Amino acid sequence: MASGLSAGTNSLNGSMESSPKREGQSTTNQGQPNLKHVVSVKDLSRSWLMTLIEKAELLRQTPRPLVRERLAGAMVATLFYEPSTRTRMSFEAALTRLGGSIIGAENALENSSAKKGETLSDVFRVVGSYVDAIVIRHHETDAVAQASIYSPVPVISAGTGSGEHPTQAMLDMYTLWREYGHLDGLKITVVGDLKYGRTVHSLLQCLTWFEGVQVTLISPKALSLPSDMLEQLRASGLDVKQGENFHEALKTTDVVYQTRIQTERLVDDAEAQAAKDYSIGLTELGLLLPHARILHPLPRVGEIDPSVDQDHRAAYFRQVENGLYMRMALLDELLGGVAR
Ligand code: NCD
Repeated sequence: MASGLSAGTNSLNGSMESSPKREGQSTTNQGQPNLKHVVSVKDLSRSWLMTLIEKAELLRQTPRPLVRERLAGAMVATLFYEPSTRTRMSFEAALTRLGGSIIGAENALENSSAKKGETLSDVFRVVGSYVDAIVIRHHETDAVAQASIYSPVPVISAGTGSGEHPTQAMLDMYTLWREYGHLDGLKITVVGDLKYGRTVHSLLQCLTWFEGVQVTLISPKALSLPSDMLEQLRASGLDVKQGENFHEALKTTDVVYQTRIQTERLVDDAEAQAAKDYSIGLTELGLLLPHARILHPLPRVGEIDPSVDQDHRAAYFRQVENGLYMRMALLDELLGGVAR
C-alpha cells in the first residue's frame, strides 16, 4: 500500500478546505458558477483526483463517529435507470457513513415519472429542490450531461449508457495508487468489451494525466475501442496500442484491467460470438508477473475464474472496498464536509 499523505491534510477536523474550486471543474450550472457536476472524467483533473485519493485515505483511517459528523443532515438522491449493485449501494453507504441520508428510485425507468414521459431536465429541477446532490445512472450516453445544467445541486454520474462512468475510474485509479504507491509509469492491459464498456472509456482518459503509462488494448475486433476515442487518447499523449496476443501481453504487464462483455448493449451476433476468448483462469494467472495486479469493475460473468480470487494479484474485491472510500471522499468534497 502507498504511504505518506501530504502535509496539512492529516486531520479531518477542519484542516481540509470545504469544496474549493479546483482546476478542471468545468461543468457548471447556469447562473451558479461554483456548482460542480461530475458527469464525465473531463469534469475532473489529475490534481483533484490526487486530492480525493488523499481524502479517501484519511476517511478510511478516521473513526466512524467522527466521520459521521462530516455530512450530518445532508441528503442525496440516487436515481438509477439501469441496474446496479456496487455503485448504488456504495454511494448510499458512503453518504450514510458520512452522516447524511438517501432518498431514491432504484428502478427509475419503471418506478418514477420517467414512465409518464417526464424529461430529465425536469427531474433534475424537481429532485434538486429536495436534496443536496443527485447521483444518477442512465441508459442514454449524453442525456445526463445535457440535463445537468438544469440541476440546482451537483449531479454525479453513476454511469451513462456506453459512454462514461467517472466515479468508477476514480476508484480504479485509487486502487492502482494503493496497490502500487504511484500512478506514473504503469503498464496496463485493458481487456474485453472496449466498445461499450463505459468504465474503460473513463479510465483511459484518467490515465492520460500520468507520465509514462503504456496501455495495451485487447478485445475482439467487433468490440474494439471506438476509433475517435483512440485518436483522442493518442492526441492527449497516451502511449496506447492495440494488442494482438492476450497471453503475450499478460507476461509483461503490471495491471490487467478485465471487463465484462456488455451483452445488454450488443447489437449483433458477431459481437456476442467474439466475446469468449479473453477470460482469466489459472493458466493466465501463471503468465502474470509476481507484482502484477488484476482489476475488474465487476460484475464478472465468467471472464475471471473464481480459482484466481485467493491469489494476491487479484485486486478486484479490494477495488470494491476502495470504491466506498472514494465515493465518501467525493461526496465530502462536493457537499462541503464539516463546514456545511
Ligand atoms: C460497471 C458498469 O455499470 O458500467 N459496473 C460497475 O459500476 N461497477 C461494469 C459493468 O456493468 O460491466
